[in-house]
Amino acid sequence: MEVSGKKAIVIGGASGMGRATAELFAQSGASVAVLDRPGSGGDEVAKGLDGTFHAVDVTDFAGTESAIDAAVADLGGLHAIVTTAGGGIAQRTLSKEGPHDLDAFRQVVDLNLIASFNISRLAAAHMSKNEPEDDERGVIINTASIAAFEGQIGQVAYTAAKAGIAGMSLTMARDLGSLGIRVLAIAPSLFATGITQGIPDEFAQALTKDAAFPKRMGRPAEYAKFALAIVDNPMLNGQCLRLDAGQRFAPR
Ligand SMILES: NC(=O)c1ccc[n+]([C@@H]2O[C@H](COP(=O)([O-])OP(=O)(O)OC[C@H]3O[C@@H](n4cnc5c(N)ncnc54)[C@H](O)[C@@H]3O)[C@@H](O)[C@H]2O)c1
Repeated sequence: MEVSGKKAIVIGGASGMGRATAELFAQSGASVAVLDRPGSGGDEVAKGLDGTFHAVDVTDFAGTESAIDAAVADLGGLHAIVTTAGGGIAQRTLSKEGPHDLDAFRQVVDLNLIASFNISRLAAAHMSKNEPEDDERGVIINTASIAAFEGQIGQVAYTAAKAGIAGMSLTMARDLGSLGIRVLAIAPSLFATGITQGIPDEFAQALTKDAAFPKRMGRPAEYAKFALAIVDNPMLNGQCLRLDAGQRFAPR
């Protein structure tokens, strides 16, 4: 699907990979709505793109529905949605303090997996109303992580949630294929974004030393280019694509 002239929502668009994606989609001729937490600075990002901002906490599932409805009403439709809102915690299955806290596990699953599914199902309903272009009505892109496949010690909740995002891509793509809606996930390695900005250079080098090439953190613009390529290419569907410079996470 040619992105120019299309309507796109980026959730998590105030910072990092989401922001870079919102900016690239707008530069490429899409109308863009930025959704992010209140106080995230998403309103400033949206202004810079001539777009709209809608405050949302993606773990408020009903509030997410209202925010998406409002964004789609402002845009006048929806063709592409990219979700980068997410994050994790560090806790082992069992530690000196005892077993992993179950509520904490559930919160990470809510933030990453349930929120991404909620957004995807709601976006699909809006996209289903589009006139097809070359049989295509829309593209849904969620954000996993390479921790979905090789989670490090202490990442069990994050791994479970991101593996869910990776795993549902094919099933959702099959569910939505008859409507001409594609579903993909991107699994980044370590990227230099808001989440990782506190990591000292030395530590970042250690964390990327196992990459094949380049041995550095990814840049948000590299995620954005990938998201644009996914929207553009109708043969990409039903999978979680790694964006990782050939890196495989070690156990720690
Ligand atoms: N940065 C990395 O190294 C890395 C690696 C693999 C996967 N990821 C995934 O990428 C995504 C994060 O993107 P980023 O690295 O660009 O980080 P970031 O912190 O720069 O951006 C994340 C954005 O999501 C928003 N957000 C977070 N929780 C939210 C919520 N509950 N409701 C609404 N918005 C919320 C934040 O306000 C922020 O603007 C996450 O899903 C993360 O798990 C990041």
